[in-house]
Amino acid sequence: MRQYRSDAVPEESLLRVLEAARLAPSSSNRQEWRFIVVRDEARKKRLAQAANNQTWIASAPVVIGAVGTDPTSIMTCGHPHYAVDLAIAVDHMTLAAVQEGLGTCWIGAFSQERVREILGVDSSCVVLTILPLGYAAGGSGGAKSRKRLEQIVRYETDSL
Ligand SMILES: Cc1cc2nc3c(=O)[nH]c(=O)nc-3n(C[C@H](O)[C@H](O)[C@H](O)COP(=O)(O)O)c2cc1C
Repeated sequence: MRQYRSDAVPEESLLRVLEAARLAPSSSNRQEWRFIVVRDEARKKRLAQAANNQTWIASAPVVIGAVGTDPTSIMTCGHPHYAVDLAIAVDHMTLAAVQEGLGTCWIGAFSQERVREILGVDSSCVVLTILPLGYAAGGSGGAKSRKRLEQIVRYETDSL
């Protein structure tokens, strides 16, 4: 969703969305994460500016910062724990949001340094995303444009 109504997100809906993140699995159950809830108008505007000036972000009544608190730790497979763990937790939140009748949009285009400062996050931590959350204004986003299954799935040694 890239357009939100100004209606507040009910506290119990917000808590259920955050609970979905809390329950998410993480590698070795490390739970090295923090979720920062922003409702302050001025801070939301600053976040939107720090996100390549995507001004619509500030139209959401809530923006949630998802922060990895141990960003240097790497899994045996070579991926950083925090990115995988937080992606799962944030995806839980996006799905829980839909269940609440709310919309979200993963934001990856933002200045790490500026957003960290706006959220008051220590430089030893990393912000994975900021997630606007609110009721959709102007439709639900329409049809999804996706590759066909045959383009993305391979069986055994078949070539794609
Ligand atoms: C890692 C990631 C980063 C993204 N960053 C942004 C962003 O900064 N701004 C934005 O408007 N959408 C962003 N998106 C949303 C994608 O553009 C969107 O999910 C994709 O175009 C599919 O859209 P649809 O699900 O509405 O079909 C991001 C999505 C992901 C998964």
